[in-house]
Amino acid sequence: MSELAILGGKKSRTEAYPEWPVWDERDVQAVTDVVRSGRWGGFPYPGPKTAELAKKFAELQGGGYAVPMINGTVTMEVALRAAGIGWGDEVIVPAYTFQATASAPMGAGAIPVIVDVDPNTYCLDAKAAAKAITSKTKAIIPVHLGSNMADMDAIMELAEKYNLIVIEDCAHAHGAKWRGQGAGTIGHFGSFSLQSSKTLTSGEGGILLCKSAEHAALAASVIDCGRPHALGGGGEDANGLSVQGGNFRLSELQAALALVGIERFPAQAKQREEMAAYMDEALSEIQGVRVLKHDERHTTRSFYRYIFAVDPSQFGVEHDVLCAALDAEGVDCWTGYEAMNNYELFQPQKSMMAVPNAFPEYFKFEEMKLPEATRACEHEAVWLDEAVFRAGQKGVDDAVAAIKKIQRNAEELNQAAEELRKKYGK
Ligand SMILES: Cc1ncc(COP(=O)(O)O)c(C=O)c1O
Repeated sequence: MSELAILGGKKSRTEAYPEWPVWDERDVQAVTDVVRSGRWGGFPYPGPKTAELAKKFAELQGGGYAVPMINGTVTMEVALRAAGIGWGDEVIVPAYTFQATASAPMGAGAIPVIVDVDPNTYCLDAKAAAKAITSKTKAIIPVHLGSNMADMDAIMELAEKYNLIVIEDCAHAHGAKWRGQGAGTIGHFGSFSLQSSKTLTSGEGGILLCKSAEHAALAASVIDCGRPHALGGGGEDANGLSVQGGNFRLSELQAALALVGIERFPAQAKQREEMAAYMDEALSEIQGVRVLKHDERHTTRSFYRYIFAVDPSQFGVEHDVLCAALDAEGVDCWTGYEAMNNYELFQPQKSMMAVPNAFPEYFKFEEMKLPEATRACEHEAVWLDEAVFRAGQKGVDDAVAAIKKIQRNAEELNQAAEELRKKYGK
């Protein structure tokens, strides 16, 4: 009988990895208190819990004016609107990310200009971004992917040189630091998601960190139906009603949950970081596995997902087969996002969005050169859940043992690959 669980063998890990989100009576009490208070949401915005969350979150990241809102997609669209970026402006985004990073600019009417990623980190390649800058470029949105950070030194240098706005997409980077400075406080804006899988969550939600009080006031207006918000918050009529806004406010119930999450966050982040360093060492011994580069300037790493790369010719199987086998071993695993050119959302005529149809010349994917993102998406990348680290050393040991087992049996697995693809899908 095969040693591999996917071919009928015994699982490497039989115990389930710890669940997310973590909650206890504190969360129940926090929500109950808000319910009893009668102030569940509404205005004036922010309510007391939301205002407290804004303050505590800015403290956690180490700076900025925090404006909580409904999710980590709207945050980016709002940042662009607050910076006066819109129809026909170009916004540089990486090719390897969740669709939100590119659809948020389209929401503001801007054109996402898609550039390749750095194979060492899978984050936006600053050199590729530099080549894509034109007279219409107004902003760059680097994504801090999985657990890595984009090269913020190079990106800020570009931004200064060409007078661009930088919006850090920090949906995966709560608590991360670059040269000791919090992710999201380096660029003009930092966009955070509090969606249920994120390392700080309120079920759904988002927070926009703004470097300037002026941007924060405008962002608050945009998410509060255009109501005027004074610089740095308050009710004074600073902006008039010239701001196009909508209701993107976070509720007090969500803010209450996120506030309890912030209390737990430092211990969870520390454990993930320690265990990930242990994982780096263990994985670097496996043939055909490439641990992504840890840039020394990335002084605090935060782990939403742990991404490593396989070289199929060395490891023996492609990443999709490895992932299916790893899942069967009891280790949740994912091949990661699709290449940007596979999303119909960005393809003229197929997309329902105005931007690709109005500016089709920007979306000729067959002419674009995105070799690094394509290789990551189609062959290399393996995404592990943060729960592996919350399960402590045993959690990591079990995952590593499973990967080694798969590599030992790669030949057998490869022979079954076609069948497995039919069964599990590519
Ligand atoms: C990189 C990235 N950016 C943005 C988002 C959007 O966040 P939300 O789901 O809160 O809108 C996500 C969410 O998964 C993400 O992974």
